Amino acid sequence: MLVTLSIDGVEVKARKGEKIIWVALDNGFYIPNLCAVRGVEPPFASCRLCFVEVEGRQAPVTSCTEPAVDGMVVHLNTPRVHRLRSAAFEFLLSHHRLDCVHCAKNRNCGLQEIASRLKLRLKPKRLKQIPRNLPVDSSHPLFIYDPNKCVLCGKCVWVCQEKGTGTLDFAFRGINTVVSTFAGKPLAEADCEACLACVQVCPVGALVPKEGVPSIFIPRAGI
Ligand code: FES
Repeated sequence: MLVTLSIDGVEVKARKGEKIIWVALDNGFYIPNLCAVRGVEPPFASCRLCFVEVEGRQAPVTSCTEPAVDGMVVHLNTPRVHRLRSAAFEFLLSHHRLDCVHCAKNRNCGLQEIASRLKLRLKPKRLKQIPRNLPVDSSHPLFIYDPNKCVLCGKCVWVCQEKGTGTLDFAFRGINTVVSTFAGKPLAEADCEACLACVQVCPVGALVPKEGVPSIFIPRAGI
């Protein structure tokens, strides 16, 4: 069943229940996001970048969790939305090792894209950097995992469990949360079948192919 809603004054049609983020993106609007995966229920909603305002709601809502309803009026760029997005972005960057020049994802990075589209700084001023200094795992013959660049979006964990061997999962809690193998084994010793789906979905430079690994090894199918 189709519903009609308004996004920034433009009337659009959507499947009832489709999450607002997908309705907006499908209709050419931009909503920053790092953790959204179409069709995954419940959505991870971990990056907190995708806030929008819906008329009649007291506070902004995350568009990756909010279903489209007939007659809904959505605003993508209100001052409250800007404040929340900027704070979430700064928080992510405060845990991210920023080394764009030497990063394999330079110019193809979700954080750089968001900074550029929203005119935000990659070196935020308000929050202090909390360096993680975790060991980089280069044990796997095909890819490198740098937990210091991970934004904990959860896409690699999800895809590893959906399409791979379930090698990756979250470990620890709160500020110490990391993506890890069971018992923190090096990837080369873990149960990884090298499908490289995790490399394909990582939006930042945390999981990248090793130099010289042909791109045909990286799955293309989008999620
Ligand atoms: S895309 Fe909605 S919280 Fe990350």
